[in-house]
Amino acid sequence: MKNFIYQNPVKILFGKGQIGRLQNEVPKEARVMLTYGGGSIFKNGVYHQVIEALKGYHIIEFGGIEPNPRFETLMKAVAVARAENIDFLLAVGGGSVIDGTKFIAAAVPFEGDPWDILSKGARIKDAVKLGTVLTLPATGSEMNSNSVVTNERLQRKLAFASPYVYPLFSILDPEVTYSLPKRQVANGLVDSFVHVMEQYMTIPSDAPLNDRLAESILKTLIELAPDALKEIPDYENRANLMWSSTMALNGLIGLGVPNDWATHGIGHELTALHGIDHAVTLAIVLPGLLRVMKEQKRIKLLQYAERVWNLTEGSEEERIEKCIQLTEDFFRSTGILTRLSEHNVGFETIDEIVKRFSLPGARRLGELGNIDADKIKQILVSRV
Ligand code: NZQ
Ligand code: ZN
Repeated sequence: MKNFIYQNPVKILFGKGQIGRLQNEVPKEARVMLTYGGGSIFKNGVYHQVIEALKGYHIIEFGGIEPNPRFETLMKAVAVARAENIDFLLAVGGGSVIDGTKFIAAAVPFEGDPWDILSKGARIKDAVKLGTVLTLPATGSEMNSNSVVTNERLQRKLAFASPYVYPLFSILDPEVTYSLPKRQVANGLVDSFVHVMEQYMTIPSDAPLNDRLAESILKTLIELAPDALKEIPDYENRANLMWSSTMALNGLIGLGVPNDWATHGIGHELTALHGIDHAVTLAIVLPGLLRVMKEQKRIKLLQYAERVWNLTEGSEEERIEKCIQLTEDFFRSTGILTRLSEHNVGFETIDEIVKRFSLPGARRLGELGNIDADKIKQILVSRV
């Protein structure tokens, strides 16, 4: 294992009725900006619960944060927050609202052009405090320090991370997920699954505890999927789904081990250029990436085949191919389409993505930094 330093300061309030505890968590004297998305919180009663819990507080609202939150929209919120001297942000929504709110939090005190936070990795020295009420289990944003923002005009989707944007607290009430459309439950299952794979499916690193934690989350997600996708939601099922997706990306399982993140790096380009849902891009890319990087990942692929999919028979080649196929079958069983052609994406887009990764200074992806433009082309061409 490699050295690591870990401090995750997020207080989790998990379970039914926890929104009612908001007043214990948000400072009484705060000037609060409540941020939300396209309005799902009005239809499912979450807005009402939040406002009830925060009676007597000074609150202004900023709605309309889109899925794949847009820089342009977030900068409007930054202007309002500055003008209103906001000193607490409460994000109520999925990963997009939470990520967007983290960006607002960092941008408000930032001196200079906040786009530099994303495009140049500009150092963040402070941020407005924030808390979250999570409504969609998927990204882990409720318990990590990452944020991904899209610049619509430049067609770029970029991430930043800073310890200043860890939420102070996150409320995880599984009942608020009951109103999710099946498409978003599927997205959450697949995004969480791939978060684990990015931290697990690399090269051996003598970290059996990390491996088993990762495998247990993968197996739990596979077990939960059929009931999670049924018309009528079940509390225990949603509770376990919510906690699994938080555990998948709160930083714990990736400590001290190599991380890949190439599937995400390539996937973000597909979203930037085509608006494909984040999780769907991952379901498209991962099977291709596993095949192209099969030699490097051989030992972990065989371990994954045995421990997650119970594959013990046949040659190594057969077991590896079978576990990649079962992974893709799992994604498809949620209703997600895993081929580029099924999303009307063709070679033009592949050429553009390859071009982006061929530019001087372009990031090289993967646990060994050896997934270059040529490999990215092989991966995407195999997914048409
Ligand atoms: O906008 P509203 O009206 O709230 O509707 C949303 C949105 O349309 C809806 N929704 C959310 N909760 C609901 C609900 N509908 C009914 N009932 C509920 N309880 O779902 C739609 C999608 O929401 P979104 O927040 O976009 O989804 P998700 O949580 O999957 O977030 C995706 C974003 O997170 C980023 C992705 O790149 C993408 O931009 N990620 C963030 C990460 C992080 N911060 O660590 C890591 C991830 O890898 C990912 O990159
Ligand atoms: Zn993701």
